[in-house]
Order: sequence, then structure tokens, then C-alpha cells
Amino acid sequence: MSRYKYSLLIFSWGLFGPAQADLTTGQHLVATHCTGCHDAQPYTNPNRRVQDIKALKEQVKMCARANGLKWTSDAIDAVATYLDQTYYHFP
Ligand code: HEC
Repeated sequence: MSRYKYSLLIFSWGLFGPAQADLTTGQHLVATHCTGCHDAQPYTNPNRRVQDIKALKEQVKMCARANGLKWTSDAIDAVATYLDQTYYHFP
């Protein structure tokens, strides 16, 4: 493989790879661990409390802890990214 093609591959992985992987991971984590107390209702509620991505990560962390989960910051990021892209759409 030429050096050019190789760097193109790295470049497109950087654009699409991890973000897509995050979404799939986040979706899986929510479906597996986050439906015991509530469904998606609090995310779509017009009166929802979370107003930015930082608060969303904090909330995910608190809810995960409430559920007895010890999530890494990677897992929290993946779930916050998934919830943002799917429900919150923060700018
Ligand atoms: C132990 C019960 C419980 C579990 C399990 C739980 N949650 Fe929650 N969650 C709550 C309660 C209670 C609220 C507040 C409900 C409301 O505002 O309507 C809430 C609210 C939220 C909100 C804030 C919604 C908003 O914008 O106001 C988010 C985001 C959230 N949960 C994410 C998660 C995620 C991600 C998981 C999986 C780790 C999870 N929750 C699991 C109890 C739980």
C-alpha cells in the first residue's frame, strides 16, 4: 500500500471510526443497563433538566452509580454521546 493510501485510511478512520463505534457502544450500554428505572422519557421530556453535554455526563455518571455500575469515563462518554445524538442534540 502506498504511503498516500495509508494516511488516507488513517484520516477517514479518524473522521468516522471512533464516533460510530461510540454510538454503537453507547446504545448497547443504555439498552443493557439503563432501562430499569426509566425509559427514554426523561430524555425527551420538555422539562428535562440536562442542558449541556457536561451536565449530561454528570447525570449519566450519577445514574450509573445509582444502578451500582462502575463505569469508566470512556463508557460515560460513549453513553453521553449516544444520548446527545439521539435525544438532546446539543449544539
Ligand atoms: C436507580 C434508578 C435509575 C437508573 C438505573 C437509571 N436512572 Fe437515569 N434517572 C433516574 C431518575 C430518578 C431520574 C430523574 C427522572 C426525571 O427527571 O424524570 C433520571 C434521569 C436521567 C437523566 C436526566 C434527564 C433530564 O434531562 O432531565 C438522564 C440523562 C439519565 N437519567 C440517564 C440514565 C442512564 C444513562 C442510565 C444508565 C446508566 C440511567 N439513567 C439509569 C433514575 C435512574
